[in-house]
Amino acid sequence: MKKNLTLSEEEKKSSDKLKQIIHSEIKLEGPISFSRFMQLALYHPEFGYYQAKSNIFSQDGDYTTSPNISSMFAEVFVNDFEKIFELSGKNILELGAGNGNFCTSILKCFDSRKIDFEHYYIFESSASLIHVAKTQLKKKLSPKDYSKIIWLEELPSCFRGVIFMNEFFDALPVGVYLKKDKKVFEKYVDIKNDHFVWVEKSIEENYQFNNLPIDKLPNDYTFEYSEGYELWVEQIRKTLAQGAIFIIDYGFHEQELFHPDRSSGTMMCYSKHQSHFDPFLNIGQQDISCHVNFSLLKRLMDKNFQIEGFVSQANYLINANILELLNAFDPEDDVVYRKKVSELNILISPAEMGDIIKVLAFSKDINLQLEGFSKNDRSHTL
Ligand SMILES: C[S@@+](CC[C@H](N)C(=O)[O-])C[C@H]1O[C@@H](n2cnc3c(N)ncnc32)[C@H](O)[C@@H]1O
Repeated sequence: MKKNLTLSEEEKKSSDKLKQIIHSEIKLEGPISFSRFMQLALYHPEFGYYQAKSNIFSQDGDYTTSPNISSMFAEVFVNDFEKIFELSGKNILELGAGNGNFCTSILKCFDSRKIDFEHYYIFESSASLIHVAKTQLKKKLSPKDYSKIIWLEELPSCFRGVIFMNEFFDALPVGVYLKKDKKVFEKYVDIKNDHFVWVEKSIEENYQFNNLPIDKLPNDYTFEYSEGYELWVEQIRKTLAQGAIFIIDYGFHEQELFHPDRSSGTMMCYSKHQSHFDPFLNIGQQDISCHVNFSLLKRLMDKNFQIEGFVSQANYLINANILELLNAFDPEDDVVYRKKVSELNILISPAEMGDIIKVLAFSKDINLQLEGFSKNDRSHTL
């Protein structure tokens, strides 16, 4: 184990308890799917990662996300959101809002630009992150704006406005599969000598992967598939009456995702700003995520929504004029200006988050021309 991934006493206690819970389930029911393992590792209501840890996105946490790097990330979406507000409803619904930083930056920007909105709805499963988000939103927003935030336990129907998700799909539990000798096996989690181990099981012959190009995969190829995509697309279909949906995540179109070089799959674990490939390490104390299959999302969304664009994060932010936001800062003010340039660099540099993160958007019952997709749209690759 890498030295600085060693857990504190308290973290180890929590991780051991979760390990015991998973052990008991396997002892009772036999090997469990990786999807079930990931559900418990990330979302167990007491010891799962997103419940047990509340400082995930900070310097002394595990990893960071675009809304946590810079308020400029959220501010750039405001012009496109305003257009959608005019044509549908002045509401935002954010799924998986984490510590609420995107909401904070958006609502502060609305306030300074005098942009009117009805409600900001948040659907977040982690009680400890909801607590963090509520505390910071209360501190940073006016009482009037704070009162317009609605915390949801289920998605509404007849929603009009913007549905926004940053790094939501990459956190959904996935099954892990192996294509070997023209057959597909599912990788389950078992216990051997008190340790978690992988075991392979054949899958039902007619198991559907929603048209993944499995025939084209090379031999000995591991890939992930989440049934959650279809479930969430169906939820969104039931929710959105009119407006637009933004999906922002690490990932690729299918041809790139299933490149022969990616034969071990895309699963990554994050802890203390380091990444590795072992989901059985420090269970409940590290993040586990997989790259998003944007082609699959498009296939599922196509049935009910109109695609608006698919670009890299860098392209969306540059098309929507993120560089102009720098004009608000004085280049003579060395400390602040340099900090902003450095944040911008992390968001748009291809070596950082600029290229690997994509922005995919859809609309329903409105005619849109969004700034963020005005150049370099790669929808045709999906
Ligand atoms: C990778 S984090 C991203 C957080 C935030 N959007 C950001 O960009 O900083 C994923 C978030 O989705 C939430 N989440 C995952 N599954 C969820 C579900 N089924 N319902 C609601 N929230 C969920 C997690 O608790 C977590 O806050």
